[in-house]
Amino acid sequence: MFSLIDTLFETQELDNNQLKQLIELEDNSPQEEYLFKQADKKRKEIYGIDIYIRGLIEISNYCKNNCLYCGIRCSNLNVERYRLSREEILECAKYGYSLGFRTFVMQGGEDLHYSDDEVCKIVSQIKEQYPDCAVTLSLGEKDKSTYQAYFNAGADRYLLRHETAIEEHYKLLHPSAMKLSKRKQCLFDLKEIGFQVGSGFMVGSPFQTTDNIIADLRFLQELQPEMIGIGPFIPHKETPFKDKAQGDLHKTLRLVAILRLLFPYSLIPSTTALGSIAENGRELGLQVGANVVMPNLSPTDVRKLYNLYNNKAFIGKEAVEGLSDLKLQTQALGYRIVTERGDALTWEDKR
Ligand code: 5AD
Repeated sequence: MFSLIDTLFETQELDNNQLKQLIELEDNSPQEEYLFKQADKKRKEIYGIDIYIRGLIEISNYCKNNCLYCGIRCSNLNVERYRLSREEILECAKYGYSLGFRTFVMQGGEDLHYSDDEVCKIVSQIKEQYPDCAVTLSLGEKDKSTYQAYFNAGADRYLLRHETAIEEHYKLLHPSAMKLSKRKQCLFDLKEIGFQVGSGFMVGSPFQTTDNIIADLRFLQELQPEMIGIGPFIPHKETPFKDKAQGDLHKTLRLVAILRLLFPYSLIPSTTALGSIAENGRELGLQVGANVVMPNLSPTDVRKLYNLYNNKAFIGKEAVEGLSDLKLQTQALGYRIVTERGDALTWEDKR
């Protein structure tokens, strides 16, 4: 097992059977420890001890989709819906900039209220006011022409998780109106346009098998995203998956580590979901290969409404107000929060 991890470290390659062995390693085993150690070593080789920060602005919890796992699915009538105006979003960016953020992530449900033109206006205003910042969008599936307009307005990056790369599994997590082929098409469109692209999946989503996860890793190898976000599935009480089991902490950590070794140059966040299932989840993620954190920059009164899953952390370390604590904690672990834009490095950069 140790030599298998060494092979992955050296070559970024393993066959499916070997990946399976790593994904299914025993919690706290010496092999798992070694996997974590090597992932951290690889991260330091490429990105040093730096942790990039992104200011997350959750612009709307309206969503036209009805994903079975998600708390803001349209058929959940118990959500108090909100959306931020252009002015409010710019206000968030202003506050974030003063705190040192140089990437803003505008994330939202698929809310048809924002026209393409409106999104473009917001993006170009942020870019005009803060030319040294990157703007990341995470607004779901759109036509290629819309993505192109966003890009032309100055958006640098786009996050869209594929959620699961296997058709049958995708159908169990989504209503029939949603198609995995469409999701994949969106991701390749985004790549082609020139966005830095982020994708990813939930660990422990209902019906997920190890073979599903391997397919996810293979899909990511095909896509070659600059950013990869994963987090444990967490049930939400107002969804059909309310009684399903939560994703496993250790399995999620092993996958963060495996991702770091398979994709040495990728930007990998230690996600809010990870920080929500364990007190030190976010720190653990950073110690096994993750190099990005995305504190919440949304106005405080709406933070509790952007509830994709229950017990979502939105205060303390998960919020911008906790930035100084986060700095101290990560420092104690031997890392350093930096305020650079934090674009993905490539093999060429390192040569
Ligand atoms: N648990 C964990 N993650 C979730 N997401 C949505 N619902 C849940 C949940 N119940 C994730 C999805 C989505 C991202 C924004 O949040 O992967 O892409």
